[in-house]
Order: sequence, then structure tokens, then C-alpha cells
Amino acid sequence: MLRRQAEHFALLGSPVYARLAAQLAEDTTPARRIVGDDVSWDLGLRLFGAVHHHVLLGIAPNALSGGWDDFSAALAAHPVSLRRFVEEQGVQTNETQRCVALVPAFLTIARATGLPLDLIELGPSAGLNLVFDRYGYRYAEGAFGDRSARLTFDAIERGRVPAGLLRAPLEIRGRRGIDLAPIDVVTAEGPVLLHSFLWPGSTERAARLDAAIATFLEAPSRPELLQGDYVDLLPGLLAQRSTDALTVVFQTASTGYLEQERYNLLRASLEVAASDGRPLAWVSSRRREERESMDEESFWELELRLWPAPARLVALVDFHGNWIDWVG
Ligand SMILES: C[S@@+](CC[C@H](N)C(=O)[O-])C[C@H]1O[C@@H](n2cnc3c(N)ncnc32)[C@H](O)[C@@H]1O
Repeated sequence: MLRRQAEHFALLGSPVYARLAAQLAEDTTPARRIVGDDVSWDLGLRLFGAVHHHVLLGIAPNALSGGWDDFSAALAAHPVSLRRFVEEQGVQTNETQRCVALVPAFLTIARATGLPLDLIELGPSAGLNLVFDRYGYRYAEGAFGDRSARLTFDAIERGRVPAGLLRAPLEIRGRRGIDLAPIDVVTAEGPVLLHSFLWPGSTERAARLDAAIATFLEAPSRPELLQGDYVDLLPGLLAQRSTDALTVVFQTASTGYLEQERYNLLRASLEVAASDGRPLAWVSSRRREERESMDEESFWELELRLWPAPARLVALVDFHGNWIDWVG
């Protein structure tokens, strides 16, 4: 698992984690007291998140900057608190650059229906992507959002988002999210937690996160973040949805954490809800199914469904939104 994670870190641009994960794979002794026999696919993300959290809190300041000796010494020095973090803390990255792909998807369904959107995000983490329209976006054929925003994205497009789509009117009526552990960025701990899941040295992502948090805090009305499992809570929200707005259930980087059976249940609950004829859409990233090895470029497919039409692929998107191939 760690060997695979090392390849993944190298591909996604974290040489520090790639090196340490590869060394851990060769000598698992320092990690044993912390992770036991856990071989979940996200183990590396949680373990490195735990260590980074300790770095940011000043508990183990050199654990990620001094190489293998400092890293393994930090694991040996803080087994209890690291174990607690790894066991209790799910992966919490809130990557706003993913909005570069969500924007044209939202515009597509707003244009198709002429309805305001009532957004429900599954696994929003801190909810930073629910205020997507307060950021600024420059696409090759036009712009979207707040031009004077603190946070702006220059989209790298392999397939361009059409100018006409970027001009489509968009009204957001509601912004809600359901997360197992929503992060409250108003507290001191919230931003630290979000930063701990970024990779050390990724200054661009860290700056983006700070700008997004500041934007979120300035928003006149903040999204509502409900605590719970969305597989259980979503049907109740969908049962109460309105007839004069388009309810849009969307997710990025979250359903990958579900067991297949839970994911099937989620999809089934959307089908049941859609059958009552009230407006419903689904925008969701999913890993390419046929992808077998980690040495391929890592990206997602963005799926869009506007009932009663079938689902369709609208974009290929880099895992962190570094590029988008809009196929509409
Ligand atoms: C990797 S983060 C992604 C956050 C955000 N969607 C983004 O793309 O930046 C995954 C989020 O999904 C949440 N999550 C995972 N499974 C969940 C479930 N069954 N119900 C509610 N939230 C869940 C986690 O708590 C976490 O906040």
C-alpha cells in the first residue's frame, strides 16, 4: 500500500512524501505502532496528514523537513497522538481549484433549465467550494465569477469551455453540504486541519486555501453544513426539495471513500427522488474505471445528469483541477 502511495505522491507532485512513503514501505517498523495492520487505500494520506498536523502545531517541527531520520524519530516520539489522528481523522482536503470544472457544469444545467440552483454538496469538508461564485475564473474564451476576487483561477484547458456557456445566467438559491465531519474555518483548529492535508512545500495550494478561507469568512451568508453521512441524510433533503428551483447534488473527491454498496444506495436514492418529477441534477467526479496503474496521468471524469436524461461525461479533470478537458 505504501509503495503504491509513494508512486501516487510522486505523480501528484509531492517528492517529500514520495520519498518518505517509499522508505516506509521498505522499513515499516516506525509506522507499526501507529497504523497497526491498516492497509486502507487512504492510509498514506491519513498518516502523512497526522505527521503534518504535528508539524503545524509545533509538536514535531522537523518531522517532514529533515529526511528519514527526523521523520522516523517523530513517529517514535508521538505514537499515541499520531495513532489517534490516523484512526479518528478522515482525509480533509478542500481543493477549490476543482471549481474550475464545476462552474461550466453548473452553467450547463442552469442554461438548460432556466431555473435557479439549489446546491447540495456531498462531502464539502469546510464548504469552500459552495462559495465558488465568489472566486474569479479566467477561461480561454471568457471569464466567470468575481473579477476582483482574492482567489482567481487561470484555467488550463485541453478542451475549451465555450464563450456562450460562460455568459449563461446563473442564480444560486441555496447552498448546503453534508459532511461526516464538517470543518469550521471560523475556529483556529479548522484551517490548521485543512493545511495538514496539503503537502509540505505546496505553497500555491496553501495560498489558495488561505485566500478561499478569507473569502468564505467574508461571504454575506455562509453555506449551511450539516453533520452526518450523506447516504443516510440525502433522501430526506431530496424529499423536501422545491419545484421552482433545480436541486443539484454534487460531489468531488468524496464518494471514492464509500463502500460500493453504500455508493449504490446513494445512486438508487437519487433515482427514487428523480422519479417524482421535481427538478434534479447530479454533478460528480469519478475515477476512470479502466485505469489500472498509478503511472498513468491521474484524472477524473466529470459526470452530469439532468433527469430524465441519462448521465453524460462533460469533462476530464486533473485530480486537483490543474487542467480541465471540457467536452460538454
Ligand atoms: C477529500 S475531502 C473532499 C472535499 C471537497 N469535496 C473537495 O473536493 O475539496 C472528502 C470529504 O468527504 C467527506 N465524506 C466522506 N464520506 C462521507 C459520507 N459518507 N458522508 C458525509 N461526508 C463524507 C469527508 O468527511 C471529507 O470532508
